[in-house]
This record gives sequence, C-alpha cells and structure tokens, in this order.
Amino acid sequence: MPMINTVEMFKKAYEGGYAIGAFNVNNMEIIQGITEAAKEVNAPLILQVSSGARKYANHTYLMKLIEAALIETNLPIAVHLDHGDTFELCKSCIDGGFTSVMIDGSHHSFEDNIALTKRVVDYAHDKNVTVEGELGRLAGVEDEIKVSSEDSSYTHPDEVQEFVARTGVDSLAIAIGTSHGAFKFTGEAHLRFDILEEIQRRMPGYPIVLHGASSVIPEYVDMINKYGGKMPGAKGVPEEMLRKAASMAVCKINIDSDLRLAMTASIRRVFAESPGEFDPRKYLAPARDEIRKLVRNKLVNVLGCAGKA
Ligand code: G3H
Ligand code: 13P
Ligand code: ZN
Repeated sequence: MPMINTVEMFKKAYEGGYAIGAFNVNNMEIIQGITEAAKEVNAPLILQVSSGARKYANHTYLMKLIEAALIETNLPIAVHLDHGDTFELCKSCIDGGFTSVMIDGSHHSFEDNIALTKRVVDYAHDKNVTVEGELGRLAGVEDEIKVSSEDSSYTHPDEVQEFVARTGVDSLAIAIGTSHGAFKFTGEAHLRFDILEEIQRRMPGYPIVLHGASSVIPEYVDMINKYGGKMPGAKGVPEEMLRKAASMAVCKINIDSDLRLAMTASIRRVFAESPGEFDPRKYLAPARDEIRKLVRNKLVNVLGCAGKA
C-alpha cells in the first residue's frame, strides 16, 4: 500500500468516534516497534517526524525505513512533519515525499499565522499533501522552543472558524490543557473539554488534533528510577480523557514521550541486570518490543483504531 495523506483516515475516524495514533519516530527500532504493533491489530497509522528528528536521522534514511514498514505491513500509513515552523521546512518535506505536514504558526500573531499557514496549504494541496495548523499555545518543550505555562494559552473557539476558512487547513491542533514532555500535571489532570465541545458544535465534521497526549505511564517512570534514573513523578493525560477526546472531534492523538519512556526504561533494565552487555542488539531488541507492547495497548484500548486499517 502506498503512503497516504490524512483525508480518508480522518473522515473515517471522525465518523467512527476513534482517533489515529500519531507517533514520533527517529530510528529503525522505533519505526519497527510501532508498525509491528499496528500490523498485529490492523490499525491505520501516522508516523511523524519533528525537525529535530529529521536532522538527527536524515530525511532519506527515515523515508526508506518507513517505505520498508509499508512493504512489511501493507497498512495505510501517513508520513507527517511534526511542528514545521517555516514554509521552507514544509516545502522540503513535501518535495521529499511526506504526505502530510504541520505548519505550527501558533507562536505568531493570528494574522501572521493565517498568512504562513495559507502559504503552506496552497503549496501542499497542489501536491495532494494534507496540512495541520495550530491555534492556541501548549506549554512544554518542542525542539528548541520552550513555552512556560504562563505563556501558554487555550484556543479560542471564536477564532477557529475564521482560521480554517481563510487558510483551508485540513486539520487543526488546539490547546485545551495538554502540554509537551514528561511533566504535564503536578496535581490532577484538567482538560478543557468545553472548548473542544464548542469547536465541534460550530464545525461539525472538522478533524481536531491533540498534541501533548502522552499518559506518562507511571510503570515506566518507576522502572527508570528503579534502574538508576532520576525522573520526578508527574502525571500525564489519563487514558480515559484520551478515549473521551477520541470519541469527540479529535481524530489525531500525538504521542512521543511515552515512547521515549518505554525505550529508556527497557534499556536501563538491560544495563542494570547485565552490566557487561555491549551488543546493541541485546538492549535495542527489548526496547523495540516494549514500544510494540505500548503502542498495541494504545491502539486497542485508548485510541480505538484497531481493526480500522
Ligand atoms: O512535540 C514535540 C515532539 O515530542 C518532538 O520532540 O522536537 O525533541 O523531536 P523533538
Ligand atoms: P507528548 O510529549 O505528550 O508525547 O506529545 C507529543 C507531541 O505532541 C508531538 O507533537
Ligand atoms: Zn506536539
């Protein structure tokens, strides 16, 4: 099956009340773990690449690894740029075969965000590539940009319709209280479902994207700390909130930090139990398998997209 854009995926997800998992990738084992899980449960997938990941692994290596995953799984897979910050970066990914890009103009003024997003949409649509925009600001760290909680802001439903109408953007990331990284909530998690509901009421059928959606799985944090790491305990987004979002207008749920935690916990355990180990396959294979298990659980029990490929 060839790589696809997100149009059909999101249409089916919206109608079916589930969400597609968008998992961040930057090496072979991560791609294999995610795609093996999706193949086991027959789920559609979005594999997304941040600009930092693209710099780290190289565009061509990542594309070829994903092409290999397509051959091995025969699943519908979209390859997406995560948090593109310039037209040039989006163009380079589109020209290089990505089927979807995010232009994140959320750090700009409303008018500048519209102008930048529209420029990317015009270029992308000409090449059958879908575009995700962002309105509102999540707290946390993305690439080199750190947004403090004071500088974060919820999406205003008032702005959404105008933004979508003037840009033609295919999906929209909104800020309802999630944040990037492994430290999201110190107390109880609180998401503004009222904002999501209002956007859905005003724009029925329009696909919404939820960033910062890792649950920061406590078992992995505990395992990292047990085997010599030092991670402060902090809460992520509870799974029942993700299920609720997926049943509403959220069609794409972004997960990166949980993958990092699973991989790191697994590798730490190998080194703690076998301090003399120096064959990378001996620690990367369990890490890949931990990712497979984590993603399988998300697809089946959280996102609801198992069996939807
Ligand atoms: O939203 C950010 C993603 O987790 C990507 O992180 O820029 O460190 O690759 P990164
Ligand atoms: P997490 O840090 O919660 O995994 O969020 C990832 C993300 O939003 C990537 O764009
Ligand atoms: Zn994000």
